[in-house]
Amino acid sequence: MDIEKKFGSNAVLRSVSGEFSASKSTIILGGSGTGKSVLIKIICSLLEQDSGKVAIDSQDMSKVSQITKDEIMDNIGFLFQSGALFDSLSVFENIAFKLINKKKMDKSKARDIAAEKLEMVGLKSHVLDLKPHELSGGMQKRVSLARTIASNPKVIFFDEPTTGLDPVMSEVINDLILKCGKTLGSTNVIVTHDMKSAAKLGDKIIFLYKGQVIWSGSRDNLFSSNNQYLDQFVNGKTTGPIVFN
Ligand SMILES: Nc1ncnc2c1ncn2[C@@H]1O[C@H](COP(=O)(O)OP(=O)(O)OP(=O)(O)O)[C@@H](O)[C@H]1O
Ligand SMILES: [Mg+2]
Repeated sequence: MDIEKKFGSNAVLRSVSGEFSASKSTIILGGSGTGKSVLIKIICSLLEQDSGKVAIDSQDMSKVSQITKDEIMDNIGFLFQSGALFDSLSVFENIAFKLINKKKMDKSKARDIAAEKLEMVGLKSHVLDLKPHELSGGMQKRVSLARTIASNPKVIFFDEPTTGLDPVMSEVINDLILKCGKTLGSTNVIVTHDMKSAAKLGDKIIFLYKGQVIWSGSRDNLFSSNNQYLDQFVNGKTTGPIVFN
């Protein structure tokens, strides 16, 4: 990959390389502002890198045709950190957006799927007819998650799926992510600050610091990495090598 990305003089990603194994879950850990969201947006073609290559299924994304790119992207789900629901649409229209507009599914079938996905994230079907502004922050997050999984994507990027949720709902969402991996066989990439989620969900962990991968390994080594930066991060120590901006 060797991805590099600057915004003006802000060098956010410096030669980031790595790979995500099919049907496994990879956790991207790192402090605020280290470039986690930027990295996954570049991988999904939502942002353009300055240099470096992104390959999905061995296909160089800068070289494939737009049709092939659309086909690949069709199988990728992305949960935005902010939720990014359409304010003017109902919960149903949000969840079923891709099913109706891209896959041309009829509305009653799409509604059944939307209700099923809503139930998976712990919400009742009457929520389907509400607008996003009528929901709490945690409910909006769960509706966004239902939208992300509505079309059963093969690869799912979750940007902080449990941030802003209470501990019980966080566990429900973690279980749901595990279930997506098991039942859909999806490849999951999860950005999180939450150590409990990281330890539970990650087959592999990537730790980003100042726009570089400074440690990667198995979750079994998360708390015994011998990496001073990761050790400070996972134990939430205020002293150590990590420099705050
Ligand atoms: N569209 C943009 N234009 C300019 N700068 C940006 C843009 N998107 C991100 N940045 C900058 O890139 C850096 C990394 O941002 P990013 O959102 O990837 O951080 P993060 O690791 O996801 O942090 P957090 O844990 O707080 O979500 C920040 O300095 C941010 O200001
Ligand atoms: Mg982020």
